[in-house]
Amino acid sequence: MYFLLSIVGFAGVLFSGANAAPHSNLDVRAALDDFVSQQSTVSLQGALNNIGPDGSEVPGAKAGFVVASPSKVNPPYFYTWTRDSALTLKMLIDEFIFGNTNLQSYIEDYIHAQAVLQTVSNPSGTFLPSGLGMGEPKYQVDGTRFNGAWGRPQRDGPALRAIALISYSNWLMKNGQSNKAKTVIWPIISNDLSYVGEYWNQTTFDLWEETKGSSFFTVQNQNRALVQGIQLSKDLGVKCTGCDQAPEVLCFLQSFWNGNFTVSNINVDNGRTGLDGNSILGAISIFDIDAYCDSPTMQPCHSKSLANFKVLIDTFRETYSINKGIPLGSGVAVGRYAEDVYMGGNPWYLITTAAAEFLYDAVAQWKARHNLYVDETSLAFFKDLYPAVQVRKYDSGNENSPFAQIMNAVTAYADSFVAITEKYVPSNGSLAEQFNRDTGVPLSAIDLTWSYAAFVTMSQRKAGKYPSSWGSRNAVAPPATCSATSTTGVFAPATAAGAPNVTSTCQVGVTFNVDATTYYGENLYVIGSTDDVGAWDVDNALPMGAGSYTPADPLWTVTSFLNAGETVSYKYVRQENCDQPYLYETQNRTLTVPACGSDGITQADSWTGQVGTAGTC
Ligand code: NOJ
Ligand code: NOJ
Repeated sequence: MYFLLSIVGFAGVLFSGANAAPHSNLDVRAALDDFVSQQSTVSLQGALNNIGPDGSEVPGAKAGFVVASPSKVNPPYFYTWTRDSALTLKMLIDEFIFGNTNLQSYIEDYIHAQAVLQTVSNPSGTFLPSGLGMGEPKYQVDGTRFNGAWGRPQRDGPALRAIALISYSNWLMKNGQSNKAKTVIWPIISNDLSYVGEYWNQTTFDLWEETKGSSFFTVQNQNRALVQGIQLSKDLGVKCTGCDQAPEVLCFLQSFWNGNFTVSNINVDNGRTGLDGNSILGAISIFDIDAYCDSPTMQPCHSKSLANFKVLIDTFRETYSINKGIPLGSGVAVGRYAEDVYMGGNPWYLITTAAAEFLYDAVAQWKARHNLYVDETSLAFFKDLYPAVQVRKYDSGNENSPFAQIMNAVTAYADSFVAITEKYVPSNGSLAEQFNRDTGVPLSAIDLTWSYAAFVTMSQRKAGKYPSSWGSRNAVAPPATCSATSTTGVFAPATAAGAPNVTSTCQVGVTFNVDATTYYGENLYVIGSTDDVGAWDVDNALPMGAGSYTPADPLWTVTSFLNAGETVSYKYVRQENCDQPYLYETQNRTLTVPACGSDGITQADSWTGQVGTAGTC
């Protein structure tokens, strides 16, 4: 891609490494190290290229907004997701703390952008009075709302954003800037933790935006955010509303284990096994180098995490033909879940590197503890890698000790996932979202920011760089019986970080009803002059529903919240079935939203203008 110009010679290095046909294990490892160091440089730059305002791939993105991918169609990923952004910033903040001081301006821009974003009203709700809008998964790249139909809310976003911002606040405190952490950043974090404390026990769409229920990844990160929030609020001398929910969240986290593996989505009925890369991504995002392996936070080195890893990875051995013939105990291409059909249901770069990262994390934890307990739960995981393994404690010892041999075997297993990644990364180092399950050819969104971020965090762990502890040892043990509690949040705009000083977002419900006879496959939207109705951008118009449509009464309807007192121009627009041009009504309509506190209103309209004709596609 374009950024190749700045890393001239990369492809050359890569190919000479491959052509040299390494002879010994040492050569193989050195060649892999070369690949990782080159690819992590490309990946860091690849992520930065997708961040506004200067990212080379994302013109139009505002400062601090992380675009998921430059891909505008098939799939349309030219949006900013709270999850992808927070995970990317967590990576950048860790890189910054590890010494890459050039990254600070990205972090500062992000802080400002998120302070503003928290206050934006959207289809998940408003910011005030109760924070509901923060459950919105994605926004336009200039930070305005996205109106399209989507899997919402997604409650991992506030937790992940809090985790990223807490890491940076801890750095500020260590570097004499506690006051900035307290006055500028804490107000943003406080809103996020309030959101978590109030809504952790309500259903959510999972990180794949498909399943509404309870998601392991989400709950695991919610617990971490609250535990870290308790510590940071003590350090700063402020109150954390919501953090008291941490032990209950941790209690709930235990219920995803079914005796054999982690069921990643519960309280759902989607016909899947529940084996899902969700559980690996969760474990690596709450990795704590100081954690005990039996911590209920479910670290990578936990026996249940290891057992789950084996069962999950072995399903992917069977699922993809590019994994055929790869023996047990050797890395494979890994995807979201075996039943996945999105874009054909393929392996993902970011999950394959996450599998490696998970194993590097576990090794780091055993080495830091100087021991490893193998139990009945984790035995099968180790058997594939070190057949002589037994249920017992292994203490660290010299380089020939069983402990050292097991560490080497798990590290080699980690490396083998990196080698699989290398095999399917094109020579210019660009990382898409997926690669084809039969051919290995990259597909879906190009230059996916999260793929790049995931490569960098994996290479940090491979190189022995660990973020400092997040305090998992201090997590209050879960109660014996879980309860579905909640703490009402306290929400206020983070004005010191640049949020607008909204006092309350007074909106009133407006129902748009239009009678419009349509053919099967045709769709209707409301489009209009304000952000709430898409600001005349058809990609951001409000999708209408035809649930009550009959031939006699061809009703299309949608209800939205609009700003009290505002005058709005709008019209209806038809979307045809085969990419024919949109058909707009010929007239502009006007409505005035009633005053704050009024009851909602209903517009009863009839379509005026051209009707649609089905295409043949
Ligand atoms: C369905 C996919 O499975 C989901 O992960 C994705 O986010 C949406 N479509 C939008 O692309
Ligand atoms: C689809 C993925 O399933 C979701 O996790 C991600 O947030 C979006 N794409 C954007 O990358």
